[in-house]
Amino acid sequence: MSNRKATAVSCANIALIKYWGNRDERLRLPANASLSMNLAGLETRTTVAFDEGLAEDEVKIGGEAQTDRAKERVMTHLGHIRARARITWKARVDSRNNFPAGAGIASSASAFAALTLAGAKAAGLSLSEQELSALARLGSGSAARSIPAGFVEWQTGETHAESFAFSVAPPDHWALVDVVAVVSKAHKAVGSTGGHAIAGTSPLQAARVASAPERLRRCREAVLSRNFYELAEVVEADSNIMHAVMMTSTPPLYYWEPLTLVVMKFVREWRAEGLRVCFTIDAGPNVHCLCPVETAPEVERRLRDLGVMETLTATPGGAARVMEE
Ligand code: DP6
Repeated sequence: MSNRKATAVSCANIALIKYWGNRDERLRLPANASLSMNLAGLETRTTVAFDEGLAEDEVKIGGEAQTDRAKERVMTHLGHIRARARITWKARVDSRNNFPAGAGIASSASAFAALTLAGAKAAGLSLSEQELSALARLGSGSAARSIPAGFVEWQTGETHAESFAFSVAPPDHWALVDVVAVVSKAHKAVGSTGGHAIAGTSPLQAARVASAPERLRRCREAVLSRNFYELAEVVEADSNIMHAVMMTSTPPLYYWEPLTLVVMKFVREWRAEGLRVCFTIDAGPNVHCLCPVETAPEVERRLRDLGVMETLTATPGGAARVMEE
């Protein structure tokens, strides 16, 4: 094997149209297609080194050796890569996020995209972007969307190979930014994987899934034509219907904190007054405020006035990339 060690960097992404619930849990074939924007500068850097002499996989995240669930999830993913490459060697994995630990920014997307790219390269595989995206999906669904650049759509697909993400517009297509209002840094009680598994217990999930293709079409159109007000309406509607599913599943999942709702309410008021900003919320309390780049300083200032202690700002990000050693 020629290339035993490789490093890759990948950014997080924010879903404009959400993925919630799987048609196939094991393969992570999603209930509906989704659309996201990569977040430049909010990155995971991962090194994978396959070593013939290693008895078992070693996994470090943020400099700390992992022993529990996080390690198992990485080992399972390495297993997919080993199976593809027909190798048995164990690996050392060293993964770091450059965004503050526990800031409540979803890291599974950037983490599994970087692990997939570094792992595939280190294992000597040469895969297309579509194959890398599908492979990343097995580790974390949203990671499929952190492989291609810019504004990205993940199609549902009927099979493993068909369920991949692709770029619909490059990062420089639209100077949109995500101002993340960090409302709480507490670790969430029920993670996305657990949430996907119970999405179908909500009577609203069928309605959400049935209406998702139309929202996706409107959102894709709004992105392609850079129509902010149309984007705002469809992005907020999609976030709201996902949270309605979460709150009505068994057990119910409430991800919001009081300040989450305060920010949602004010964002809508500010927009009604003419400030171009809208919100979307993932499986946590932080509010992602999307706005054109020139509006970001004003949005940051107003969020602080509402009592938001910390914000993170990201422009559209590029594709996952291999770093030269
Ligand atoms: C609410 O991709 O984190 O952020 O596949 O189990 O790792 P797993 O779930 P994950 O789910 C993301 C859910 C979401 C919406 C989205 O990003 O589309």
